[in-house]
Amino acid sequence: MLDNRSEFERVLYDGKFRILLSEEQIDARIRELGKEISRDYRTKNPIMIGVLNGGFIFMADLVRYIEIDLEVDFIKISSYGDATTTSGSVKMLKDINAEIRNRHILVVEDIVDTGLSFQFLTKKFGKFEPASLEFVSLLQKKDNARVDYHIKYLGFDIPNEYVVGYGLDHKQILRNLPSIYVMD
Ligand code: PRP
Repeated sequence: MLDNRSEFERVLYDGKFRILLSEEQIDARIRELGKEISRDYRTKNPIMIGVLNGGFIFMADLVRYIEIDLEVDFIKISSYGDATTTSGSVKMLKDINAEIRNRHILVVEDIVDTGLSFQFLTKKFGKFEPASLEFVSLLQKKDNARVDYHIKYLGFDIPNEYVVGYGLDHKQILRNLPSIYVMD
C-alpha cells in the first residue's frame, strides 16, 4: 500500500519518536521564565534577540509571558545545516538591526548543544558593549558541551539525544510539532 503520510504524521503516529517534553510542560516552564524575566528586567527595557530559525516559536511564546516593556530583534545563524552534528563553524545568515550599545540584551535560543553558537553570539554581541548580555534557552545539552557557557534563564536540561519539534528541525522540517520529541 502506498503511504502518502507526511513526516509530520509519521512522527505522531509511527511510534518512531517519543515525547520528551509535552506542550503543557513547555508552556508551564515558559510561563515561569517569563515571570523571572519580568521581575529582573522591570525597568530595563531589554532587547530580546531571537536566534533563527530554531528559536522562533520559543521567542513568540516567551515574550507573551513577559509583562514589561521590551524590544525584539532577530539574528539568523547556522552551523548544522541539514546534518545531525555541528559543522563546527557558525555562519551568520542575517544580522540584527538594533543598536545594542549600552542596552540590556537577552539572547533567545531554542537549544544550546555544543555551545559553539553561544560562544559565537557572546563574542559578536560583546564587541558592542551592551549594558548586559544574558542568554535564555529552552533546552541545554550539558553533556555535549565543548566550551564553557552559562545560561541565565534555562527551560530544561535534556540528555544528549536527537530532538525535534517546537522549533527544532529534522532536515528543516518538523519545526511545527507542538511538543518536543526524541528519536528512540
Ligand atoms: C541550532 C540551534 C542553536 C544551535 C545550538 O541551530 O538553533 O542555534 O544549533 O547548537 P550548538 O550549541 O552546538 O552551537 P542550527 O544551526 O541547527 O540552525 P537552525 O536554528 O536554523 O535549525
